Amino acid sequence: MTPLIRTAAGLLLASTAVQAQAATVFSIDSTASMLAHDLVLYYNGNETGGTPGILPGPPPAGPYYWWEAGAMWGTLMEYWHTTGDDTYNQIVSEAMIFQTGPNEDYMPPNVTASLGNDDQGFWGMSAMLAAELKFPDPPADKPQWLALAQAVFNTQADPGRHDTTCNGGLRWQIPVVNNGYNYKNSIANGCFFNIGARLARYTNNATYAEWAERTWDWIVGVGYMDADYNIYDGAHVESNCTDINKAQFSYNSGVWLLGAAFMWNHTEDVKWQERVTGLLNRTLEFFFEDGAAYEVACESVMTCTTDMLSFKGYLHRWLATTGQLAPFAHEKIMAVLRTSTQAAINQCTGGDDGRTCGFQWSSGVFDGSTGAGQTMNVLAAVSSLLIGSAAPPVTNSSGGTSIGDNNAGSNSEDDPTPFKPLTTGDRVGAGILTAIMLASITGLFGMMSFEKS
Ligand SMILES: *[C@@H]1O[C@H](CO)[C@@H](O)[C@H](O)[C@H]1NC(C)=O
Ligand SMILES: *[C@@H]1O[C@H](CO)[C@@H](O)[C@H](O)[C@H]1NC(C)=O
Ligand SMILES: *[C@@H]1O[C@H](CO)[C@@H](O)[C@H](O)[C@H]1NC(C)=O
Ligand SMILES: *[C@@H]1O[C@H](CO)[C@@H](O)[C@H](O)[C@H]1NC(C)=O
Ligand SMILES: *[C@@H]1O[C@H](CO)[C@@H](O)[C@H](O)[C@H]1NC(C)=O
Ligand SMILES: *[C@@H]1O[C@H](CO)[C@@H](O)[C@H](O)[C@H]1NC(C)=O
Ligand SMILES: *[C@@H]1O[C@H](CO)[C@@H](O)[C@H](O)[C@H]1NC(C)=O
Repeated sequence: MTPLIRTAAGLLLASTAVQAQAATVFSIDSTASMLAHDLVLYYNGNETGGTPGILPGPPPAGPYYWWEAGAMWGTLMEYWHTTGDDTYNQIVSEAMIFQTGPNEDYMPPNVTASLGNDDQGFWGMSAMLAAELKFPDPPADKPQWLALAQAVFNTQADPGRHDTTCNGGLRWQIPVVNNGYNYKNSIANGCFFNIGARLARYTNNATYAEWAERTWDWIVGVGYMDADYNIYDGAHVESNCTDINKAQFSYNSGVWLLGAAFMWNHTEDVKWQERVTGLLNRTLEFFFEDGAAYEVACESVMTCTTDMLSFKGYLHRWLATTGQLAPFAHEKIMAVLRTSTQAAINQCTGGDDGRTCGFQWSSGVFDGSTGAGQTMNVLAAVSSLLIGSAAPPVTNSSGGTSIGDNNAGSNSEDDPTPFKPLTTGDRVGAGILTAIMLASITGLFGMMSFEKS
């Protein structure tokens, strides 16, 4: 199998873009299809005894937090959109619907003990993507993609999620009792910004655009995004968000960049063009090493958590869509995605089948680090190269068929107690886990983020 993967990549990159398109569509497609197959092997949710929609987890039950499956369904939607292969559409649909929770707002009670605005946001972004890609609409008696994205947005725009510390913004965690409720971060607010920008473009309703504007102003005002478009991880409300953890993660830059590209496409305001240009410059400069995507904060010494091992995939996907929405940036983006995808494929030589992917793309060799995130990254990279022949995201007035609901998510106060009563054992377990995570982020990653600048 490996030679085929290599052939696909070699052909693509050795030829000019135009020749490559004609010559290798088939083999790039089959590379994508092998990767999608290998990715879905990590999913057991459709098997007897499995829970539809989730990857094995959350810890300690398995390595994957709930949000990562939400991201995986989005990746598989893009796989379908760019290749036309609908093999996995059924499990994607089933998963996206099964995990909506009792109020159809992606807050299922099972995950409340670690439910962040970012976790909910990743599922919301995948629902939004389904509407934009015209992923087959669910049966009429099921929640619809656009309404699900609106439900996530509405619950996050609710005054109950905003307070005056740090001049506003969303907290990381949703339930007050969760560790991390006192942290306001760039990813939680980035998901909210991203969904707001996309709903603005899709529905042409000004309320969403106003929230997106306000959220951008907030992240700049609080100092998480600086004048050079670095995006830092977050800070605590006790310090009024001045104890900024300066670790930079590629998903933060990607989620804000894509949101800005949607705002540019929707408003055609030169202000958003400048923001796209500036963020793109910094993203390409900071998160690529020898032309390959590189997770600066953790990759050099491989201290990446399971979450972090999946960020490169979102970076690739969101850059590719940015190029569709901001055509002035398209060539610059594709040039980088080509070299990065080549590097990604080159290191997929592990395992008994000789085609298992690792994580450290720029190393040029399989590094032995395997998992759903590592596989999903490479699938996302290959899909991102195929985006040139795929339709850009639709809107309600350019072919979109998903049915919305302005009031979606408004029953969320009725969500069954936002947290299951924890046993002492649970509480200690969850606390330790989160404490370790926060310690390593604030200590180790905070320092390492200065390595590259
Ligand atoms: C689960 O989905 C995968 C991918 O579509 C499929 O190969 C597998 O047969 C399914 N398993 C069951 C038990 O339906
Ligand atoms: C919640 O967990 C229970 C027990 O594992 C499972 O049966 C149920 O399907 C889960 N619900 C969701 C939405 O994941
Ligand atoms: C908290 O920070 C915000 C900026 O993010 C600032 O506008 C506000 O005045 C600060 N509040 C206090 C009490 O220092
Ligand atoms: C982005 O980079 C290009 C050169 O690579 C430069 O001309 C341009 O001024 C930069 N734009 C911003 C907003 O930083
Ligand atoms: C918005 O995106 C569409 C779809 O790719 C593209 O054709 C159009 O030129 C974009 N608009 C602007 C203002 O860049
Ligand atoms: C979306 O378009 C449909 C028909 O094209 C229309 O009936 C509906 O009102 C539109 N929805 C919004 C939110 O504009
Ligand atoms: C626009 O969206 C807001 C927020 O969901 C909603 O309250 C309002 O009714 C919407 N306006 C229209 C014209 O649909």
